[in-house]
Amino acid sequence: MIRVSPSLLAADYRKFGDEVDKVISSGADALHYDVMDGEFVPAISFGQGLLSFLSKKPIDVDVHLMIVHPEKHIKEFADAGARYITIHQEAAGFGTADTLKLIRECGCLAGVSVKPFTSVEAIEDVLDIVDLILIMTVEPGKGGQKLIPFTLDKVRQVKSLCEKHAVDPIIEVDGGINTETANLAVDAGANMLVAGSAFFKAQNAEEFVKNLKSL
Ligand code: DX5
Ligand code: ZN
Repeated sequence: MIRVSPSLLAADYRKFGDEVDKVISSGADALHYDVMDGEFVPAISFGQGLLSFLSKKPIDVDVHLMIVHPEKHIKEFADAGARYITIHQEAAGFGTADTLKLIRECGCLAGVSVKPFTSVEAIEDVLDIVDLILIMTVEPGKGGQKLIPFTLDKVRQVKSLCEKHAVDPIIEVDGGINTETANLAVDAGANMLVAGSAFFKAQNAEEFVKNLKSL
């Protein structure tokens, strides 16, 4: 089963509520919520307040924390209604495992992400305590970029690492995903697709989601 998680970063903020409803009515599985702190990545995006509004909607919120010291904020994002919380291996450093455990203790699904130039071996020691692995297919920080082709090899590598460890977490990809690149990502082993620009630019959002889910 392929899950689709449209990223709100690419929404038209003048009609934010309608854009959220568009994601829900498209049949998407989750709402991807990009949190940026101006330090882990240059930009600053959304925080916990807006999440409390979104989490009242009938869809799971997939929180992607592009922040330093994620351990300090897990409880707040969990209390605000996140279903998935993904942290970056590069941000959590030696505290990755403890932070992932904390996410689960707070009742959420725990995800770990690696940037394009971080090898998948860097997360090998936490594979058995994650529900989701997010392979960044662009440098995190902004929407509308082109997928970096070599990142799809990392999807294959992480898939075989999971087989080696006999675990089966969700494998999510994020960045530059459109109808064509989604196909390549699914072939490589991804089963959860984040799409920002491509989703919000699609003529027919429902059709877009249906196409991705049928890959
Ligand atoms: C990038 C974010 C992505 C971004 C994806 O740092 O993590 O979720 O919104 O946007 P597109 O699909 O436009 O590449
Ligand atoms: Zn993201």
